[in-house]
Amino acid sequence: MKTENSVLVTGANGFLGSWVCSEFLRLGWKVTALSRQPVENLPFPLVVLPVWTESSLLSLISELKPNAVVHTAAMSSTAESERNEDLTRLANTELPKILAAITGKLGIRLVHCSTDLVFDGLKGNYSETDPVNPQHCYGRTKVAAELAIPDLNPDYLIFRLSLLIGFSRDGNHGFLDGFVKSLATGKAQPAFTDEWRTATPVSVAAKLIADSVTHPIKSGLYHVASDEKLNRYEMACILAEKSGFSFDLIFPAKLESFTGKPVRQPDVSMNNQKLKSALGISEIPGISSEETVRKLLF
Ligand SMILES: NC(=O)c1ccc[n+]([C@@H]2O[C@H](COP(=O)([O-])OP(=O)(O)OC[C@H]3O[C@@H](n4cnc5c(N)ncnc54)[C@H](OP(=O)(O)O)[C@@H]3O)[C@@H](O)[C@H]2O)c1
Repeated sequence: MKTENSVLVTGANGFLGSWVCSEFLRLGWKVTALSRQPVENLPFPLVVLPVWTESSLLSLISELKPNAVVHTAAMSSTAESERNEDLTRLANTELPKILAAITGKLGIRLVHCSTDLVFDGLKGNYSETDPVNPQHCYGRTKVAAELAIPDLNPDYLIFRLSLLIGFSRDGNHGFLDGFVKSLATGKAQPAFTDEWRTATPVSVAAKLIADSVTHPIKSGLYHVASDEKLNRYEMACILAEKSGFSFDLIFPAKLESFTGKPVRQPDVSMNNQKLKSALGISEIPGISSEETVRKLLF
């Protein structure tokens, strides 16, 4: 008898998590979403765990026995991480370690989300073998998880994600949610001409993650980045225009004018060849691709 493939997705109410759930559903997998709070109108079952402990996660995962756990939950804001270092370490290092230990013990693949911000951004076009040099609490806690996971569960995929672009399910978590709201006020926005990213539409990243599980690809660390390296100013002009606003609302600025915290990394563009080879694909489209932009609307 054929058993149904299934996945548990943590952080399912977040920006990437909701897209990942939709992508697995599209591929015919059974999806269970995990969140700390109830979420309305989801097209898949949701488990609400207000507090995530080792024992509550162990009993949930033992009961569900999914083929894979895709862990998207995290403290994802660099600024908030800086203000809450202990919480960030718990969310971004300790929680992944707990999930890696549980999935390792149960023989389940763990897919963990890391970030391009593990690099200092002085070089750009980073490949998986380049040394990391995190510049803030968020980056440091992500590096610590990357280092710990392989020893706890050899059946792992760690995806270093580039900046993700799109709208979120609840209108609060996505890159475009805030961007479009702000443009709608008619207020001009600065965008850096010297901050470079290989930004990826969130729909594309979610598909790559799901394909890597269903394909499946070899355990390891992979960069999830598009083929398109753009600076923030170029990105903002493209996205303004595609969202129906004038790019006159975007004005160029230099990183040296940024006075906030933490420091910004100038060029964390990533090389995506390893993932492309593993999946047997020849391109990973960026934000200027018409097709991916159409899909950005959830
Ligand atoms: N967005 C990007 O551009 C980007 C770029 C590179 C890497 N990443 C990584 O990709 C992953 C997904 O990012 P995202 O943008 O989707 O983040 P997000 O929208 O902030 O969603 C993350 C979710 O994690 C949950 N969460 C936060 N702290 C938690 C904790 N202590 N315990 C359990 N759940 C917690 C929250 O869920 P509830 O409060 O709803 O339970 C939240 O909805 C993260 O690992 C992030 O670091 C994102």
